[in-house]
Amino acid sequence: MVNTAPTIAEREAASIIQTYGRAPVTFVRGDGCRLYDEDGNDYLDCLSGIAVASVGHANAAVAAAVSRQMTRLVHVSNLYYTVPQVELAERLRALSGLDRVFFANCGATANETAIKLARRWGQKTRGPECYEIVSLLDSFHGRTLAALAATGQPKKQAVFQPLPSGFVQVPANDIDAMDGAVGPQTAAVMVETTQGEGGVLPLDVDYLQALRELCDERGVLLVLDDVQAGIGRTGSWFSWQDLGIEPDIATLAKALANGLPIGACLSTARAAVFDYGDHGTTFGGGPVVTTAALAVLDEIEHRDLLANCRQRSRQLTSRLMAVPGVTTVRGRGLMLGAVLDSPRAAEVNQAALSNGLLLNNVTADTVRFTPPLVITEDEAEEAASKFEASLG
Ligand SMILES: Cc1ncc(COP(=O)(O)O)c(C=O)c1O
Repeated sequence: MVNTAPTIAEREAASIIQTYGRAPVTFVRGDGCRLYDEDGNDYLDCLSGIAVASVGHANAAVAAAVSRQMTRLVHVSNLYYTVPQVELAERLRALSGLDRVFFANCGATANETAIKLARRWGQKTRGPECYEIVSLLDSFHGRTLAALAATGQPKKQAVFQPLPSGFVQVPANDIDAMDGAVGPQTAAVMVETTQGEGGVLPLDVDYLQALRELCDERGVLLVLDDVQAGIGRTGSWFSWQDLGIEPDIATLAKALANGLPIGACLSTARAAVFDYGDHGTTFGGGPVVTTAALAVLDEIEHRDLLANCRQRSRQLTSRLMAVPGVTTVRGRGLMLGAVLDSPRAAEVNQAALSNGLLLNNVTADTVRFTPPLVITEDEAEEAASKFEASLG
């Protein structure tokens, strides 16, 4: 008998607003670094849902903590105190050295918070004309209008004009260009330490340090978007901690609750200038997502995943460098881009999927690796050999 039931792709096309180009696979289950499709095929996940499932899919400790919290208290709003929210803020303070936290719901809303906070700081400390945010070309800060205005990708911005004003972009790693762009109207400079969506492009350490000095000299805030690079991804809790700089404001999301939606904007006490009513969210910092995040931080700590991240990074980098067709491997920690000798990342990505390996063609010639931080030595070797086979 012929099966005439619509496929999941047909049902999706008929019912979901079409903004995503999806790979032809439907996942139904995950376990550690593995994902399983509806036919029971397994895949080695070296993408982690774009740098999210850092402590592994279906992590037992996170699941247990969330399940307990689900039967206790799910939501009350930010009109009241809840314990996990304050505990998570305290943990993030201790780990980051920053003083205050605002909980948002994703990377874009964490960045909206940072932008609004920087504007408020500019207004309060330097006057109403000080509201501009200078960011970088090829950056990515999210899809809400202000985050998009800060995103240095004209193609993504074009169809949504007019975007909010007060945003300027300059080339990365060019301190003179930044120097020229920062003026009396500038409230903050906002950058990723490694531009993930831009193609896994690490900013030079010298440049980042010069940026910090420039911000100090001109009296503007340095905002680091650590949405993708934060929470262990680069081998330290926060990506700036290995780079000799400290931000005034930093944003987090992706890996913080291992797949539950959360965002956070961290700030020094000096920059935390919101007044009551300046900003808010119904869901932000709710008991379930903050409980999940606390369990994630415990997992990273107890399983020494920062050390594993650094070891697997060295292993994967040298192994991928040796793959014929790879010209270089760039990035930090387990946020790596394998640059190919020709613009065939999409084909390689497709071949990898057929070989049971999940990656992402982040640009035409660069394949991104962001595996879970729990990836083992054997799994990293398996990833490299499956990748090598996909290039052949
Ligand atoms: C550096 C960075 N900032 C912000 C975002 C936006 O995060 P979200 O998709 O959770 O809104 C992303 C997403 O890829 C990102 O990589």
